[in-house]
Amino acid sequence: MADKTKLAFVRTFGCRANVSDGEKISGMLAALGYGFTRDMNAADLILFNTCAIRENAELKVFGNVGALIHLKRQKPDLLIVVCGCMVQQAHIADKLFKTYPFVNLIFGTHVLHKLPELLREVSQKKRVMNIDDSIHSVIEDLPIRRDTSTHADVPIMYGCDNYCTYCVVPYVRGRERSREPQDVLNEIRGLLRDGYRHITLLGQNVNSYKPSFAELLREIDVLECERGEFRVSFMTSHPKDLTRELIDTIADSKRVSHHLHLPIQSGSNGVLRAMNRGYTVEEYKSIVAYARERIPDISLTTDIIVGFPGESREDFEHTLSLLQDVRFDSAYTFIYSKREGTRAAEMPDTVNDETKSAWFTEMLGVLDGICETVYTRYVGKTLRVLCEGEGRTGQYAYSGRSREGVLVDFDSDDTDIPGKFVNVKIDKALKWAVTGIKE
Ligand code: 5AD
Ligand code: SF4
Repeated sequence: MADKTKLAFVRTFGCRANVSDGEKISGMLAALGYGFTRDMNAADLILFNTCAIRENAELKVFGNVGALIHLKRQKPDLLIVVCGCMVQQAHIADKLFKTYPFVNLIFGTHVLHKLPELLREVSQKKRVMNIDDSIHSVIEDLPIRRDTSTHADVPIMYGCDNYCTYCVVPYVRGRERSREPQDVLNEIRGLLRDGYRHITLLGQNVNSYKPSFAELLREIDVLECERGEFRVSFMTSHPKDLTRELIDTIADSKRVSHHLHLPIQSGSNGVLRAMNRGYTVEEYKSIVAYARERIPDISLTTDIIVGFPGESREDFEHTLSLLQDVRFDSAYTFIYSKREGTRAAEMPDTVNDETKSAWFTEMLGVLDGICETVYTRYVGKTLRVLCEGEGRTGQYAYSGRSREGVLVDFDSDDTDIPGKFVNVKIDKALKWAVTGIKE
């Protein structure tokens, strides 16, 4: 009788780069013969691919891993694996290894490609920890198991050299390194052949891709796609590296999404300096003005941190007025979280937790007011929408995304449109989406 297929439960926390790592982890597990389950109780291997960006991300993982002790008691052969950014920090990896003796394998972001080898080691030694960070090369040709069929993420560069003072990423992801343009182009060609219609290029600072991000976009834009149209988007862009050449490239392209995710972090020049962001509010606004001039329908999203060490009420009010001024399509907002080993962790934290929460709530109120009206600019227009599937709310037949990255809920009597591009006449703006009817 054939052996029963072993089942893996893989859970990824955090950003798209981590999700992309998760797809490679699943690809390697599939190549080892694992099947997959969404039920932890049915799994032979449980893997948590973790995030370190803020403290609550880490607390969640400690909770989740701790809760596995009961399962491990019932199933002593269960393999428990923790990997990713959180355990690339030596103090956290040590703590996890000591606190949870039932964890079999801990490995960091730099040795991801060694998973098969590490699992073999575990079968001999029972417990293994490897957070070696000496490997800086880009590893190509790992198997990838994607859960999606229309949209695929393609990392084009890894790591970060910017050392924003609050951020742990340069420590856990290492130095910036770019994939070869030919490797990126070949992967995208394969995805288009497989029927993917929307490609997102990923990088912590996607626009500092070497040798040239604008050039790479231009080469992708002219790729042939037998089945017709496709779309390419990218994230995250760093304002200090956002050139006019790149904006011109987007404006002149056929396929590049009219969307920029451009984290500003703060509306105060003093705070931006303390964050080591490398631009001023004025420089940021000037590049946004150029983008809006060249690409009038562009959508602009951002990240904001509230309660950075030393931030004053006046600094915070500068952030509020910046939000009113720029009127982002949406903003992802975070309360500052102290990360051990970063420069900001050494700065005196002058804002107490209560004030941070109050400012955070106040900012959400301001953003809510902007959101109410920001999408009205699309009402009456026709947007080109890639239909991602059935309506997400049940109120409309289908949902998809426009070239601007805007979520579009729409009706149509056609039945064969998921995975296709369609024109949708927009009749209403909601807070986070627009609605309409297929033309
Ligand atoms: N505290 C709060 N937010 C943070 N971010 C990064 N590091 C921290 C931190 N220590 C936010 C930034 C970044 C987004 C991905 O997470 O806004 O753009
Ligand atoms: Fe972190 Fe700054 Fe690098 Fe973004 S650019 S990953 S915020 S250090």
